[in-house]
Amino acid sequence: MDSSDFSGFCTSRSSVREFDDDPLSEEEISYILSCASTAPSAGNLEAWDVVVVTDEETRSALAEAAFSQDHVEHAPVIFVVCSNYVRSMSRYGERGILYGLEDATIACTYMMLAAHAEKLQSCWTGAFDDDDVREILSLPPHIRPVSLLAVGKGHPPAQHTDRMRIGEHVHRETW
Ligand SMILES: Cc1cc2nc3c(=O)[nH]c(=O)nc-3n(C[C@H](O)[C@H](O)[C@H](O)COP(=O)(O)O)c2cc1C
Repeated sequence: MDSSDFSGFCTSRSSVREFDDDPLSEEEISYILSCASTAPSAGNLEAWDVVVVTDEETRSALAEAAFSQDHVEHAPVIFVVCSNYVRSMSRYGERGILYGLEDATIACTYMMLAAHAEKLQSCWTGAFDDDDVREILSLPPHIRPVSLLAVGKGHPPAQHTDRMRIGEHVHRETW
């Protein structure tokens, strides 16, 4: 892949919130998970874990926990990407809280891009009630859910979302 392939790959991804009924194959799920495991992490501690949810009732409960976001119920798979604080705090103390969130976020980004590479659609879902998700999935206390990544076969929108101009983000040398 050259640099123009890479920018084309990035710009062709969009969040999709409507999915067909088709399930993902085990190979597609494994591919997404194996790409996540190549993500960088602080101290290579990989302070993230994921709960792969395909069960319809559980997806429906997660959709409720996500303030009734329908796509969470209708996507065939929800990757509930979590930060595992114990892993990062054991070496980094308080700083490990931040690293755990970063590790989970990067792993989720890799999963989202892996889904795109497999020509699947996805929607990163960050709006949910943490306690409800904890209860539905029996998460231990040191595990924080960071994202419900909904993945399935869907239809990308005709138009991509707008972005800020890059100059609005970038500061050179100092702020
Ligand atoms: C941290 C984070 C939280 C998000 N939470 C939600 C969400 O709860 N529901 C939703 O429909 N989309 C959510 N999104 C998707 C964004 O709305 C979407 O990425 C953004 O509008 C840009 O559109 P694009 O992904 O199509 O480029 C979230 C994305 C991120 C990175």
